[in-house]
Amino acid sequence: MAKVIESISEWNEIYNREIKGKKSLGFVPTMGALHKGHISLIKRSVKENDITVCSIFVNPTQFNDKNDLKNYPITLDADSILLENEGCDYIFLPTKEMIYPDNYRYIVTETTFSKTLCGAHREGHFDGVLTVVLKLLNIVRCNNAYFGEKDWQQYNLIKDMAKALFLDCNIIPCLLIREPDGLAYSSRNTLLTPENRLKAPQLYRVISSNKPLDVMKEDLRNLGFRVDYLEEVEGRILVAAYLGNVRLIDNVQR
Ligand code: PAJ
Repeated sequence: MAKVIESISEWNEIYNREIKGKKSLGFVPTMGALHKGHISLIKRSVKENDITVCSIFVNPTQFNDKNDLKNYPITLDADSILLENEGCDYIFLPTKEMIYPDNYRYIVTETTFSKTLCGAHREGHFDGVLTVVLKLLNIVRCNNAYFGEKDWQQYNLIKDMAKALFLDCNIIPCLLIREPDGLAYSSRNTLLTPENRLKAPQLYRVISSNKPLDVMKEDLRNLGFRVDYLEEVEGRILVAAYLGNVRLIDNVQR
């Protein structure tokens, strides 16, 4: 049975009693509304570690848009069943008060890469992500932490933070998982209207088309996407675009 942890002191007791110096610990931080993308990270952690912890915390400091935070899907009962079925050992459910006893006075800021791509369109987003991930890593004290390449910029920023701040934990990248029609799994996909859900896989098709970037952008606009950015970085095409009020991101190796 996956055990639900609702306080940091409860986790500290379990960690000191059962894990420290005895077992390898894998950690998958999430914001819940779990899907096959998240589950692929859990599977990998379960396979590679003695014990796996998944955290579910809709982190308010990484939402630059209040409506996005308000509409973010919460499916805790279904999430618990999925985690249980995958053999996840602990589900950590912190509250805002537990994570931010400082009221977000202390913030991790990366000054360069985080200001581009998603960071250029979502002010403060990566400050929120890096700060919460550092706090979670410090609380959980895992050996291996798993992050999806779906959020390629996020993964790279976290990997570089771990190196810059000498964190004692491996940051492990995991492949992007897609629905059968090509749409990258995302918790926000459930917010798409039925019509936009049918349109959404075109995002992947267009960025895989090998056309010049401007042509891809134009193709997306003609299909009804509102493009935030479409850029090539290190041989990878990265895109963020809206369908209605739902923001989708995706990336492919060129
Ligand atoms: P969330 O969007 O819930 O994603 C949790 C993890 O699942 C991230 O590492 C993300 O990259 C990975 N993931 C999501 N969709 C995926 C897919 N289709 N294929 C593979 N991996 C996928 O990312 C966050 O939460 C937050 O920013 C967090 C790191 C938890 C900090 O709050």
